[in-house]
Amino acid sequence: MGDTLIPQHIGFIMDGNGRWAKKRLMPRNFGHNQGAAVFKKTINWCRELGVKCATFYAFSTENWKRPPDEVKGIMDLLRRYIKDIRESAKEDIRIIILGDISAFDEDIRVELTDIMETSKDNTGFIVGIALNYGGRAEICRAAKILSERCVSGEISSADITEDMLEQLLYTAEMPPLDLVIRPSGEQRLSNFLIWQAAYAEFVFMDVLWPDFTKKDLEYAINEYAGRSRRFGGI
Ligand code: FPP
Repeated sequence: MGDTLIPQHIGFIMDGNGRWAKKRLMPRNFGHNQGAAVFKKTINWCRELGVKCATFYAFSTENWKRPPDEVKGIMDLLRRYIKDIRESAKEDIRIIILGDISAFDEDIRVELTDIMETSKDNTGFIVGIALNYGGRAEICRAAKILSERCVSGEISSADITEDMLEQLLYTAEMPPLDLVIRPSGEQRLSNFLIWQAAYAEFVFMDVLWPDFTKKDLEYAINEYAGRSRRFGGI
């Protein structure tokens, strides 16, 4: 596989945790637990395969609608993994949180803000974690910032460009999104990186996220490479 055929930035929709647990007659949080372990492994696989950046959909703006038990389970998982995420930051990994974390408990908020800050000069790999994230909310937030700049007279609305808006998205300092992988058989974006995915390739897979392996990642990257080859020529 030539380097140019490796996607620089992959988005992962970690779907199917609940079904994976149900198949085992276990509570849904058992699936999220396993899903979080796969999240960690996937970061390493991406690095080994030469990918530069991976963004994971961990909690959407819609996920608050889940039963309180399940939300609490995911939050506890996040607390546990924060320690791991901190360890990753030591391996030259930059952590970028996408989403409005003001809704989270203070301990989580403080930790995440600190991890983002202390890892910001790392260049080996970028891990994006989407938490209380929604693509529409992200674009709306950027629009508000631009409108405030218009009101203050800093810019004129006629001068607003796509590039200016893009600079206000959580992904501003990430490479362009090349590939979105969604396991579990669902074939939709579910409000994940909707602006950024405008030119991305999509690979939908039947495997449930907790069963996702390095082989599955390689399969998706191969698919991506094949499509790029077809569309790359004149
Ligand atoms: C979707 O599967 C998954 C989620 C809503 C949560 C994903 C969260 C994790 C894997 C934990 C992440 C933790 C860290 C530390 C980043 P689903 O529950 O919708 O599955 P289903 O469609 O089978 O019900």
